[in-house]
Amino acid sequence: MTTTAQPNELKHPQLFPQLVVGRGNPKARLMLIGEAPGAEEDARGLPFVGRSGQLLSELMFEAGLDEQNELYICNVLKCRPPNNRKPTAKEIDISRPWLKQQIDLIDPALVLLSGATALQAILGVRSGISKLRGQWQNHEGREFMPMFHPSYLLRFRSREAGTPQDLTMQDLREARRRLHLL
Ligand code: URA
Repeated sequence: MTTTAQPNELKHPQLFPQLVVGRGNPKARLMLIGEAPGAEEDARGLPFVGRSGQLLSELMFEAGLDEQNELYICNVLKCRPPNNRKPTAKEIDISRPWLKQQIDLIDPALVLLSGATALQAILGVRSGISKLRGQWQNHEGREFMPMFHPSYLLRFRSREAGTPQDLTMQDLREARRRLHLL
């Protein structure tokens, strides 16, 4: 029997997952950290390019933030968890040193922590995004603001006062205000 030589990544695809590192301006003063790539992100190798990303882009635009130039976007996990399940505490711990290096390299003044996983990874807080959202937290010399994750916002389309989308718009406008003061 003859076998065709194959590169390792074709023989063992599970050992060579797609890496999704980041997108946007690596010199941006504002960074946004999400949870982990989903199916669309995994396919394209870029964070926040699926439905959540589309909503995020709309909200950024409406808040007056120039996504391409003023923002760098990444996730806590650099690979898609199987079936898009929530990252485990162990996966967050394993990812944290890479994420911290990424923050140090980009060196943003302001960081948006989008969702509970980002909040847990950076501030070590396991719950309470509703209480902490919109409030700047100084941590290791940088300002971090927790905000809702866009996949949560997709569940509530209303923009009435006090709804998650309305509160997120307030948070993004605050981030823009602070960014333009730098
Ligand atoms: N959700 C995330 O947290 N990150 C992505 O890149 C896409 C969806």
